[in-house]
Amino acid sequence: MARKTQQVYDALAPVYPVSSYLFHADAHRAALRQSEVRDGMNILEVATGSGELFRKLVELNPTGRTVGIDLSHQMAARSQRMARKHFPTSASACYTASGCRLPLADHSFDRIFSCLMLELLDAPARRLALMEFRRVLRPGGRATLVLIGEDSRVFNWLFRRATRTIPAFWGPQTEGAVLQLFDEIGFRIVASQRLRQNGYPSFILTIE
Ligand SMILES: C[S@@+](CC[C@H](N)C(=O)[O-])C[C@H]1O[C@@H](n2cnc3c(N)ncnc32)[C@H](O)[C@@H]1O
Repeated sequence: MARKTQQVYDALAPVYPVSSYLFHADAHRAALRQSEVRDGMNILEVATGSGELFRKLVELNPTGRTVGIDLSHQMAARSQRMARKHFPTSASACYTASGCRLPLADHSFDRIFSCLMLELLDAPARRLALMEFRRVLRPGGRATLVLIGEDSRVFNWLFRRATRTIPAFWGPQTEGAVLQLFDEIGFRIVASQRLRQNGYPSFILTIE
């Protein structure tokens, strides 16, 4: 499944910004507000996609370090290119890697962002990814997740059908399963918000 996901997102990298702009831009803005990012932090984004949020993180953190990871090489390369183009002197870098096995030191980040990745993982991989977030976060650090909201019956019905057609692109909604893991992994929710952009529901959660 991970290989298929990587192939699908590699192929979609040139056009993915349209989907990000139409359906996820408001959720990205909400995630930034909720996470209380400050300049000078060590910030990690896991699953940058085509880099729209990553670019904003780099802009907000000119004297800090901003690292991006994506399973898709094309997505990671695009995120890096766009950030370098707009902020050539920033200490930012994107790598091709899995959110389930972060090539990063323990307790090294103040903030983690991960938007719309957990849906693409099966249950063991989802647990591994959240454990990795816990491992690389500094004590007192926060992770902000954007999940596909489950608060619209019509959307849920349509989305269930969509996931059957291309599961490597549209993974099943996973809000309940993610919430259940927080206690076990040692996270608590410090802020949350729901919103919709062009009918697409997002659930934005900050945990520490
Ligand atoms: C739906 S897109 C979301 C992109 C971006 N976060 C956004 O909000 O627009 C999902 C992204 O997750 C990446 N992805 C999927 N599985 C991953 C994994 N195990 N580790 C890292 N990235 C992964 C995909 O390559 C893709 O870029």
